[in-house]
Amino acid sequence: MTKRLLLSFCFFYCTTFYCNAQNKIDPKTIAGKMQWFQDAKLGIFIHAGIYSVNGIDESWSFHNKKISYADYMKQLNGFTLKKYDPAFWAGLIKESGARYAVITTKHHDGVAMYDTKMDNRDIVKASPAKMDMIKPFFEELRKREIKCGAYFSLIDWSYPDYPGFLKDSSRYDAQNDYTRWNKFRAFFQGQIKEIGDKFNPDLWWFDGDWEHSAEEWEAEKVRHIILSKNPSAIINGRLQGYGDYTTPEQNFPVTRPPYNWWELCMTVNDNWGYQQHDQNWKTPYEIISIFADAVSNGGNLLLDIGPKEDGTIPEEEINVLKELGAWNKRNGEAVFNTIAGIPQGHFYGPTTLSKDSTTLYLFVHAKTSGQIMLKGLDNKIDDITVLGNGAKLTHKVVGKISWSPVPGLVYINLPEGVQDKYITVLKLKLDKPVKLYRGQGGL
Ligand code: GLC
Repeated sequence: MTKRLLLSFCFFYCTTFYCNAQNKIDPKTIAGKMQWFQDAKLGIFIHAGIYSVNGIDESWSFHNKKISYADYMKQLNGFTLKKYDPAFWAGLIKESGARYAVITTKHHDGVAMYDTKMDNRDIVKASPAKMDMIKPFFEELRKREIKCGAYFSLIDWSYPDYPGFLKDSSRYDAQNDYTRWNKFRAFFQGQIKEIGDKFNPDLWWFDGDWEHSAEEWEAEKVRHIILSKNPSAIINGRLQGYGDYTTPEQNFPVTRPPYNWWELCMTVNDNWGYQQHDQNWKTPYEIISIFADAVSNGGNLLLDIGPKEDGTIPEEEINVLKELGAWNKRNGEAVFNTIAGIPQGHFYGPTTLSKDSTTLYLFVHAKTSGQIMLKGLDNKIDDITVLGNGAKLTHKVVGKISWSPVPGLVYINLPEGVQDKYITVLKLKLDKPVKLYRGQGGL
């Protein structure tokens, strides 16, 4: 099976699971701790690992037999982190406007990015980097009040007592050898305790739960281990039904996901880790419009970057984060601490609302000028301005029939010269919380 096929297979599994994920955890019991996450909107995902040495698929390259396991692990010798500057990383993340970051503490290849007492496979003991990447990074994030997330792969294709290894060969079947499986459980749960004690993550980002059931992973116990250490820790949805929020991956939802909390994870180019041949960079405009659309639909964006083996971040990714940050500086009022916008159909573009729903934000493409139309708004508009420069805009209401309850069409005049470089945000102050007409007109 190719990686693509395998991933779509996983995606099918994961989407099926995502739908069930919400069932085990009652949203009412976690609403308090989820508040910062809901307000945060933007996180930066970091896939740091030995796969950046050759620039090949993280873990999957040996699993799918594109490279031998021995050659894959040889990359340990080339992982230096010699220019690693966690203060620069955290500063860049702050500049992007992100309020949380999630870094790989261990991917499916089993190589820990910190000093694990449970195993020899870590970059402190087995690579020239000889350092724990996580601790100094979390320290720098915390100095800047950015929440710290730990990605942790439940799958560990390197561990001798883990069943899965290559795509067409497993070591054993967990169902038939619980003695061996228990050894692995003690190991991975030990690492989770260790990460909790060492770094106390604000958020846990599990991955790979599809290889085993909730019962096999002891997912409920894993949740308990985490929450007994830090009751307000947030857990992503890849824990066989015991996570707090849903994580669509790369594929953008078209209709609004029916979840309380969700986060789209997406790469800046086409790969999670650093691959020098991959130059398919998304532009700042593309990233910003994806971000606006996620927020408009009540979600977060977890934007992934892949640093090089020496610890530097590719220039293109630095540029995207800076441009995104500059846009957030101009327009962040319409993004952070807002709620999902009005349903599709009223306006042809993303929208958000202030928490009290008396301010409506409309997102339009930078090149747009002329008349912008809004349907079914049963409010008076007190004031319209352009975020970032404060330009005042006029509007008119068209087609209002005096005896009909159906609101008229609002046409906002957007002149040339007040637009943002990427996406312009119009701020509409309403007379009262937003009220929408959702009928079919006329009758
Ligand atoms: C998939 C892949 C993994 C990647 C992750 C990020 O689950 O297995 O390589 O780290 O997606 O969401």
